[in-house]
Amino acid sequence: MTDYLILLAPSSNRVYSGSADTLVAAELEVMCGGLPGEPPTIEPVTVAGVGYLQLSLPELGAETTAALSRLSALFAVFERVGDQLRPIEVSKPDLFDDDLVSIPKYQGKTNEQFTRLLLNVTLASLQRPQEAPLSILDPLCGRGTTLSTGLIFGHDVAGVEGDLKAVEAYAAFLRTYLRRKRLKHSAEMSPVRRDGKSLGRRLDVEVTPPRTSPSASGPGRPLSLTVFSGDTRQSLALYGKRRFDAVVTDAPYGVVHGSHTDVRGVSGKRDRSPAGLLRDAVGVWAQQLKKGGALGLSWNTYGLSREDLTAIAEKAGLQACADGPYLRFGHRVDSSIYRDLFVAVKV
Ligand SMILES: C[S@@+](CC[C@H](N)C(=O)[O-])C[C@H]1O[C@@H](n2cnc3c(N)ncnc32)[C@H](O)[C@@H]1O
Repeated sequence: MTDYLILLAPSSNRVYSGSADTLVAAELEVMCGGLPGEPPTIEPVTVAGVGYLQLSLPELGAETTAALSRLSALFAVFERVGDQLRPIEVSKPDLFDDDLVSIPKYQGKTNEQFTRLLLNVTLASLQRPQEAPLSILDPLCGRGTTLSTGLIFGHDVAGVEGDLKAVEAYAAFLRTYLRRKRLKHSAEMSPVRRDGKSLGRRLDVEVTPPRTSPSASGPGRPLSLTVFSGDTRQSLALYGKRRFDAVVTDAPYGVVHGSHTDVRGVSGKRDRSPAGLLRDAVGVWAQQLKKGGALGLSWNTYGLSREDLTAIAEKAGLQACADGPYLRFGHRVDSSIYRDLFVAVKV
């Protein structure tokens, strides 16, 4: 057995209020779950006063190295040789610079590291090919943290967002960013009309990433991004026949900003709880998944229990991932939010 010591990014314990070890260990366990051989043991250790995650396995194969390079909170990896640490080279597979997700700052933004974790765990759970390019839908996409992270990973992305101002702000950011970085792209906002009625607006972007992999110098294949403004309950109608490998989203937490909550109800209905929204929407999103595709969502457990969410997903024809690491993602965000992660597969 060889021991590898993973040093986590210093910011990760702030993101997970001290539970970064548990969450990142669970993330790596899910990512290594489909690999051949015995699952590795992963545990926190302290060496000379510094905390690491220790990964013990016979040898570090190419697939485990690839999983490590994508890990949400990775800072550095060392092989433990006696009382010495030998650095291991792991380069992130990102196709864009990480300022694509770190520059935007706004109320309600999902943390970038957590978004990467949510994507990693969901994509590792697919029961269909996992190689890029996949197609990913965030049906509550806000100003696009999941969508931009999906592009960074080399996937085609799509979103729905109820707040038109958020879609416009994301479009404005992308235009400025892509121009400033001199990336070949097109970006267009257009009205959506059906039967003579205005349904909102759509954003269509096509962008050629600056590289195909960190070691390659040439540009990659163009990636597509679409966002509709509108109610996520209409997502199937908005996207028509298009199906996705994964639906990945950070659901509203039911918290109040000023006089309104972050949940958008159907007009005329008073149910503004995340539970009501998820009851209406999970069945819609399930229909948008390809067979073997996965739904990954983070939600506030104070408004809806895992048991209830599992029942909603199963009614929609999804099978919940309900064992081992999948049950170790719960963590406190603040006094009104205890966030957890739920993954289910369309069988
Ligand atoms: C937790 S936020 C997601 C933030 C996003 N990941 C980001 O970083 O910008 C949830 C989003 O769901 C949107 N939302 C709430 N109810 C909705 C509905 N019924 N249809 C579409 N979007 C909705 C909110 O406007 C909010 O932007």
